[in-house]
Amino acid sequence: DALGRGEFAHYMLKEMYEQPEIVLKEGSRHLDIPEELTHALHITLIGCGSAFYAAWGGKYYLEHLAHRKATLELASEFHYRNPIVQEGVTIAVSQSGETADTLKAIQYMEQKGQYTIGMVNVPYSSIARQVNYEILTNAGPEIGVASTKAFTAQLLCLLKISISLMKDSARKEKILNGLKQLPLDMQKIFFKVSQLQDIAQHLVHAKGIIFLGRGISYPVALEGALKMSELSYIFGQGFAAGELKHGPLALIDATTPVIVLAPMDQFFEKTVSNIYEVCAREGKVFIVTDEAGASQLAGVPVQDIFVYPSPATWELHPFLSALSLQLIAYYTALHKGCSIDQPRNLAKSVTVE
Ligand code: G6P
Repeated sequence: DALGRGEFAHYMLKEMYEQPEIVLKEGSRHLDIPEELTHALHITLIGCGSAFYAAWGGKYYLEHLAHRKATLELASEFHYRNPIVQEGVTIAVSQSGETADTLKAIQYMEQKGQYTIGMVNVPYSSIARQVNYEILTNAGPEIGVASTKAFTAQLLCLLKISISLMKDSARKEKILNGLKQLPLDMQKIFFKVSQLQDIAQHLVHAKGIIFLGRGISYPVALEGALKMSELSYIFGQGFAAGELKHGPLALIDATTPVIVLAPMDQFFEKTVSNIYEVCAREGKVFIVTDEAGASQLAGVPVQDIFVYPSPATWELHPFLSALSLQLIAYYTALHKGCSIDQPRNLAKSVTVE
């Protein structure tokens, strides 16, 4: 209904535009975490779809910032494997709180004696009622089938947990200060949306699109590929940039666009060499990077570069790069005339295995 989405053509567009405000509000809100998590040496992160990719980002945060052993599990595979479970805490990430596989995985973990936390967007949902402790992502109702603001809110929640578990107070301060600037930087992406529309225009006729990222940009690349597939029906595949030589390079030709996340982080140089490898094989490269990265990329023979503001620390890049990829997928689907809020064959919440 036109009322619910106001001036926006689609719920998805509205939900993407809500993200800076969610980061503003939730970034500064105090997050209570249970004692069990504070003391946990091993944390298992579980989810499906976009929630799984947010959990993947959370793994990087927990390892780098909180120095905790963090294991990632795809809920739809987990409980069939008879996995060996030792002491620890499980964090199940789910927008709807209704995903059957995630619920099954939680029940399995509880049988094995784990303390379970449900990170959900929908209060009183099945997962919220099942777990020992509930953390709300507070993104507000998400109507578009393809998750956008819920993904960002999940990532933010996982970052906040990691910050509250970390010991290095100077670094903590730096990330928290960076978080204050983040909503404005996200807003600036919308000011440049026409550039993302131009990139989308170039992608419309592609049969497949490759997404590359390294470090925490890897799960963001996977999420970008998922968004592209869900919305535009163009086959999107994300790869770790370091895996390029182990197969994906064979796919490179002049007809397969490659979207590379190349933020100025500890992996920048390596990612740039991947970009050259793709260019040398006539691949059409589209780079998504920050200002600091872009300043080092002048003269690189790529199709286009989208530049977002440089965040204070590497931990904040995913919020800016994921938003950029969401918008690219949205406009590609729009150019193709796809059913954006209700992609064919997909459901918002999957309550069967
Ligand atoms: C469905 C939705 C996805 C979502 C996934 C997990 O496939 O279409 O957008 O990421 O389920 O859902 P959840 O509610 O558990 O986050």
